[in-house]
Amino acid sequence: MEDRPITLSPSLSNTHSSSEEDKTVLEIWGGASLHGHVGISGAKNSALVIMAGALLCSQDCLIRNVPALADVTRMAEILSALGVKLERQGNSLLVNASHIAQSKAPYELVSQLRASFFVIGPLLARLGVARIPLPGGCAIGARPVDLHVRGLQAMGADVQIDHGIVNAYLSGRNKRLQGAKIYLDYPSVGATETLMMAATLAEGETIIENAAQEPEVADLANFCRAMGAKIRGAGTNTITILGVPSLHTTDYAIVPDRVEAGTFLVAGAITHSEISLSPVVPDHLTAVIAKLQAIGAQIIEDAPNRLRIVPGHRYVATDIETLPYPGFPTDMQAPLMALLTLSDGDSVITETVFENRFGHVAELTRMGADIRVKGTHAIVRGVPMLSGAPVVATDLRASASLVLAGLAAQGKTTVQGLHHLDRGYENLTAKLQKLGANLQRTQLGADGDSPLVLPDPTTVPTVTKPGVTKPA
Ligand code: EPU
Repeated sequence: MEDRPITLSPSLSNTHSSSEEDKTVLEIWGGASLHGHVGISGAKNSALVIMAGALLCSQDCLIRNVPALADVTRMAEILSALGVKLERQGNSLLVNASHIAQSKAPYELVSQLRASFFVIGPLLARLGVARIPLPGGCAIGARPVDLHVRGLQAMGADVQIDHGIVNAYLSGRNKRLQGAKIYLDYPSVGATETLMMAATLAEGETIIENAAQEPEVADLANFCRAMGAKIRGAGTNTITILGVPSLHTTDYAIVPDRVEAGTFLVAGAITHSEISLSPVVPDHLTAVIAKLQAIGAQIIEDAPNRLRIVPGHRYVATDIETLPYPGFPTDMQAPLMALLTLSDGDSVITETVFENRFGHVAELTRMGADIRVKGTHAIVRGVPMLSGAPVVATDLRASASLVLAGLAAQGKTTVQGLHHLDRGYENLTAKLQKLGANLQRTQLGADGDSPLVLPDPTTVPTVTKPGVTKPA
């Protein structure tokens, strides 16, 4: 891949909340029925960590089913800054980390994407040194990295934090991490992934206990195994990794996004519409399906890897507590809350994973929802209807919650803060339009100007010639 350029969608090249983007809004006219089928994209959180995992290998890694998302673009920029060559063609991404020119990730990029901290494990394993800025907190919580750091120390790394940068070194003759038995105080997804990646190239056996069991952890393990890593138990709470000296080229397709699938199931439920979705792995959605059924919707697996939602006439309240997998996912808390605002009775939602993940509550309340927050609990009292209003998304899943509420509300909802939505939902506007929803993305002009209708910036790009991309 010598000198092959990085080819990424130019529309995703800057996902900051610039003044231009602040003027871009999603206008939704609620009340339309949905019908038909929707295709589910590859899992964002698998794609991000698998891209980091490609650093472990000095040969070409072809990753398929990579969603065109702002976060994916950001991760590609970080790998590119480390000297890695990337080439995107549709939903496939070719990564070649034969030459890693840099052991230090740039702060400007890491601070924008927390998942980029995950490169610390592969970089340390490959180069014996990694210098990664602390990613800092984000809208949903402080999000420390102590478990990642303690695990790497247990594997023999010397880790110091100076001036906001995590400096990790390996000393000794052969500069390899050493296998270790690591117990995680909390089954952190990111820490499990960092340590599993680091252990693939370590000397000896590593056992991670109280490991995260999320499907994205298992997907990463499958990707590493496809490159020749020796990993057992991923997807359970004990993962055993026997280090190997090097990994080899692979061609790997990532799993469907369970959170996007869950979001579309709620879209069907909240609009009282029957829709189907594929590809999905129904087992990844067990907790979400159980809650939707408790509320009053029916979910049917009508073909392999395909789900159909049959809505109820009315919905009833249910309690939800977010937990590590296989518990109810924190990423579905905000989307499901939108549905519970319209369900008869009182629901108690308890958020145990992130300390600040109720940003959508104030906005749903502006639309007529009756929600009270007390610490980690939100008490949702069902109301007969929501009414459209201008609302602002505070984080990725909050933005999905507001779109869902807008689909069901009477009148027009205008969602601002779309850079959050573009981090994690590929082509959401077009997918909902195809199902019959009445919505459009517009850029507000000066007073009196007609708004400019815009396409989704998360449309899958196709490579036309090296260095140039255009939406498919
Ligand atoms: N935590 C620590 N110390 C650590 C690591 C985590 O205290 O060293 C705490 C966190 O502060 C948090 C809890 O543990 O309170 C869970 O964090 P975890 O490490 O499990 O989450 P993550 O790896 O940072 C991933 C997803 C999140 C998803 C969570 C939980 C990626 C890129 N992100 O985050 O996805 O919510 O797991 O399932 O994989 C999203 O997609 O919207 C999103 C936020």
